[in-house]
Amino acid sequence: MAGVLPVYRAIFMHLWKERNMARIYNFNAGPAALPVEVLVKAQSDLVEFSGAGMSLMEMSHRSKDFQAIIDAAEANVRELMGVPEDYAVLFLQGGASLQFATIPMNLRRPGKSADYVNTGSWAGKAVKEAKLTGDVNIAWDGKAEGFKRAPKPCELNLSPDAEYVHICSNETIGGIRFAEFPKTDAPLIADMSSEIMSRVVDVSRFGMIYAGAQKNIGPSGLALVIIRKDLMERCPETVPYFLRYTTHANEGSMYNTPNTWGIYILKLITEWMLGKGGIPAMQKADEEKAAALYSVLDSSSFWTTVAEKESRSIMNVVWRLPSEELEEKFVADAKKSGLIGLKGHRSVGGIRASIYNAVPKASVDALIAFMKDFEAKNG
Ligand SMILES: Cc1ncc(COP(=O)(O)O)c(C=O)c1O
Repeated sequence: MAGVLPVYRAIFMHLWKERNMARIYNFNAGPAALPVEVLVKAQSDLVEFSGAGMSLMEMSHRSKDFQAIIDAAEANVRELMGVPEDYAVLFLQGGASLQFATIPMNLRRPGKSADYVNTGSWAGKAVKEAKLTGDVNIAWDGKAEGFKRAPKPCELNLSPDAEYVHICSNETIGGIRFAEFPKTDAPLIADMSSEIMSRVVDVSRFGMIYAGAQKNIGPSGLALVIIRKDLMERCPETVPYFLRYTTHANEGSMYNTPNTWGIYILKLITEWMLGKGGIPAMQKADEEKAAALYSVLDSSSFWTTVAEKESRSIMNVVWRLPSEELEEKFVADAKKSGLIGLKGHRSVGGIRASIYNAVPKASVDALIAFMKDFEAKNG
């Protein structure tokens, strides 16, 4: 704990005593920090769920108890995000990565093309999968600029007959986001894995929104898909049943055995969000955390942020230090002070702090205190 100011140490010790457990300052990119209240509730349900004499993990997904959980999870998602009736809410397996493959298989009809915006690692993976099964038009490519920003809507070179336009709304690795979503004639599809439910979004502007759960809304191994029902009907007959959205929509996300535990945790997390004031409250808290961190980064030339200002992510803050040696020392010293998950992604290096909904302001305050101390000693 050396290096963390006494007040943060006190918070840490308080939590430790209250919960009889050690909670570290967790800045992991995903799987990531979950709300302590949710973990405590899940722990209490772990061995015996609600008087059932067994754990939820031992229960049939066809049971009344589980049906109530998945119904509540869907209702919470609909309430939080204001999902219109003509959209299906699906809980799928295979993470966001399987969506990269199934989106073009389902929504780009034979002989047609789709527009993709290349903003970095995750958008690039979606492009790679889409190219395997048909034509792709790259409507904008940030590679030559080093993926430092998202494009302005007017910069997109959209094709008039595209089946859809795909974006990654927040690039987890590069730490950039679309501050403003493009208006498109073709349905807009967004990978929101690393920012879902952190900002108020008008779902009706999208054909589909999807996210791997393991950052803001649950554990890994679960993907949330929100899709306009008429788009699902485009799916060619040659697509395997399991990979069709209609299959899962028709079976209430229970065509096969779903990730029951993941859906249960998602239900608890969405309840937690509703109890805190919903997405507007999440957004306010997230913007405050990010503003505090960026203001330290902007205050000294010791730190260099990577993203251009207007594209800065609110969830994944990425920066560099004067040398790679100092970056290594920063990560190692932070770990000694109880701050973990700060190493930038191996593909880009540097430092990354992921400050998702469940990361408390106290964690960001502890990080800022550590940064000031580190700069004073090494700057
Ligand atoms: C923006 C984004 N898209 C997609 C993925 C892939 O998600 P999954 O591991 O659930 O397949 C990630 C994972 O970190 C991500 O950050």
